[in-house]
Parts: sequence; structure tokens; C-alpha cells
Amino acid sequence: MGNSETGATLNPEESLKKSVRVRPAKNVLGSISFPGDKSISHRYGMLAALAEGTSRFKNFSTGADCASTLACMQALGARIERHDDGALAIHGTAGRLRQPSSALDCGNSGSTMRMLSGILAAQSFESELTGDASLSRRPMRRIVEPLKQMGAHIETMDGHAPLRVRGSKLQAIDYTTPVPSAQVKSCILFAGAFAAGVTSVDESIRTRDHGEIALKAFGAQVERRENRVTVHGGAKLNAIEAVIPGDISSAAFFLCAAALFPNSNLVLDGVLLNPTRAAILDVLASMGAKPKFLQVQEQHGELVGTLGMESASLTGLKIAGGLTASLIDELPVLAAIGPYTRYGIEIRDARELRVKESDRIAVVCANLRAMGAEVDEFDDGLRVRGSQTLHGAEIDSHDDHRIAMAFAVAALRAEGESIIHGAESVAISYPEFFETLEKVVER
Ligand code: S3P
Repeated sequence: MGNSETGATLNPEESLKKSVRVRPAKNVLGSISFPGDKSISHRYGMLAALAEGTSRFKNFSTGADCASTLACMQALGARIERHDDGALAIHGTAGRLRQPSSALDCGNSGSTMRMLSGILAAQSFESELTGDASLSRRPMRRIVEPLKQMGAHIETMDGHAPLRVRGSKLQAIDYTTPVPSAQVKSCILFAGAFAAGVTSVDESIRTRDHGEIALKAFGAQVERRENRVTVHGGAKLNAIEAVIPGDISSAAFFLCAAALFPNSNLVLDGVLLNPTRAAILDVLASMGAKPKFLQVQEQHGELVGTLGMESASLTGLKIAGGLTASLIDELPVLAAIGPYTRYGIEIRDARELRVKESDRIAVVCANLRAMGAEVDEFDDGLRVRGSQTLHGAEIDSHDDHRIAMAFAVAALRAEGESIIHGAESVAISYPEFFETLEKVVER
């Protein structure tokens, strides 16, 4: 990859924008380890700030989203130190957060805004949560409704940020989530851990379970039966020490890249293998790829291990129902490699993709078409025909990190160069993405 960057210089905001050139590849070979999982880093960052004692983390996410969470927790009174080796120490407040002196800026991070709202709802002070333009367009009623049922006072701008949260003594609730969302589930569980009584959340479709696992690791009383999770109020959290498993949603781009070339061979070290997150391995295997588990262990209730990935000729797949929810962050890259599969990829029941950092259904379809692919767009998904040859193109990431990375992968097998505009957005979850891709791609 030339990685030559063409910076536009129209105004200060534009000058921060980066365009990255991606040339076609022959192969993907090597060994990679990934920065800590974004979902786990957010939750550990928040709970460590509430805990008694000093939590120490290695391999905490390097992404801007988790930096937003840390900045908010600092503004709420937690002292945070980053050591030269990247290790993080969070000195907890033993449940005594202080009122922030200004609005809490969640940046681009829906996880920060939604999960932190649950914590703030139980405090004895008022706070305000703001976000960037993308986050300010994302739906917040999904957390406001259950928190109001618990007794919180929250004002929104017609269901959107900024949020004004007036904390109070909360009552436990028994809640069934109307949309599958781990952010909503964690928000309610975090509020429930500090409410009076026992709070339960039922999900019709199981979502990632890091919230409940993290609460338990920090000492809260949590039980789970099938798709129902219960947390006991009045929790006293204690600091933990942990190495955060590598982010499998970041690894997914490399797993898909490896699956595209006949002689690829990748080793992925220390990757999160929590079954509620590892569906990407099952779907790649079901299409003919050969992921291998070389070693697996458990840390604070999370599975982590080393993976081997060899290439394959991918068949194709329809993704719908519960599988869609399990793959929610991996759908853009699966759609982007769809044209290179034999029979294509169809994604349904994925309306949630329209309210992510961008409208990921529309943006994936537009970028696939820019590369010459035939694609059908549905209200709840898309269908990409298989066995297509794509050409390089100018890709508009819409400042969405997962779109930029998904199309960098698609560009590896296109004819001719592609340019990814808004490539700086990868810093949201995986700042090292383009450098790492460069290291493992052969031309
Ligand atoms: C996340 C849950 C998902 C996912 C997001 C992180 C989490 O969002 O898309 O990147 O850490 O809980 P939803 O739960 O809103 O679907």
C-alpha cells in the first residue's frame, strides 16, 4: 500500500481529514496482536472509576472512543495515569463521583453516552452529556425510557443528545429491551447496580455480554439465565488488574482480508473469543475459511486466545435474525467482501445499521456501487451478488471508522487503486489499522 496521504486544506476541520491510497494485494501473511477490545475497555474504564482502589490495565483500547470515556471519568473525579509502556492506572472514587465542572464530551462514542448515562442517573448531581454531529443524530430514547422508569430525570433534544441527567435514588426495574442493544442492556445494568432492589434485563436476541461479565469481575452480584440478566443494587465495586483482550471487531478486517487470497496465513495473538462476539469466525468457517484456535484461556470471565487463519475460496451467506445482532459491527466488512464470494452475501434484519456512526446500509451500498458492484438495498439490509470483479474507486467513509476499514479490505482485491476519504476516522477504534495492514499485505 502506498499509504500516500492527500490532505485537503479547505478549513481547519477539513485539514484534519486524511485520504489513504490502497493498492491491490497478492496475499496477506504474518502475525498480529490487536489493541484492547473497545467494548471491554469502555466498561472497565467506567467501573474502575467507581471502584474502590486502583485498577491497572494493560492493552487498554488505543481508540478515540475509549479516550472519550476516560476523559469523562476523569472529569467525574477518577485519577488516571498512563505509563510509558501503555499500561493504565485508574484510581477509583469508591462510588463517590464528583459533579463535573462542564459538559461531558462523549465525542463520537455511543457506548460512552449510553452506558455513562446509566451511571450518572444514580448520582446525586446533575450533568450534561454532549457528542459530535454523528453522535447527536443517534437515538437516545432507548436508554432514556428505562432510566425514567427507574426514577431518573433526563432531558433530551427530541430524543437526541445533548442529554441533561439529573441523578436521583433509583428503583430497580424488570425491563425487556425493544431493540437488541448491548449498550442499552449495560446502561440499565450499571444503573441497576446502584439502585434499590434487583434489576433484570430480558433480551429477545442475545447481545454481547461484557457489561454483565465486567460487573461481576468488579464484585457486583450478577446472575444470568438464558437471555435474562439480573444485578443486585447497592453494589460495592473493587479494583481489578487485567490485560484487555485484543479487539475481535478490529481483527475481523484482517480475518476477512486473509480469507480473500489463496495463500494467506495469519496468526492473531491474544484476541477476544467471547462467544457473543466471535460469530465472525463461525460465518467465515461456514463459507469455507479455516480459522484455527491455537490456544484459549479465560481472564476475568472473558475468553481470549491465539487464532490461525488460512485462506479459502469463500462461498457466500445469508445473515439474518440473531446472527445479524451478533455480527453488528462486522456487517460492513462482510458486505464489502461479498462481491468476492462465489454466491454473494445477503444481510437482513439489520435496520440498526442505519443508526450507527453513519447509515451503514446506505454508505456500504454507495461505496460498493462506486467500485462497480451490483448491490440491492433494502430497508433492513442489502444483497451483494457474488463472483464480481470490482475496480478501484474513491471511497467516502462518511467519517465512519468501520466503513473506512471495510473498504480498505475490499480495495485489496479490486483492479486498480482506491482512495479512502475520511481515513482518519479509523482512530475511533483502531488508530494503527493502516500501518498494520501495510505490514501484513504482500504485493
Ligand atoms: C457495543 C454494542 C453495539 C456495537 C458497538 C459497541 C457495546 O452497539 O455496535 O460498537 O460495546 O455494547 P448496540 O448495542 O447499540 O447495538
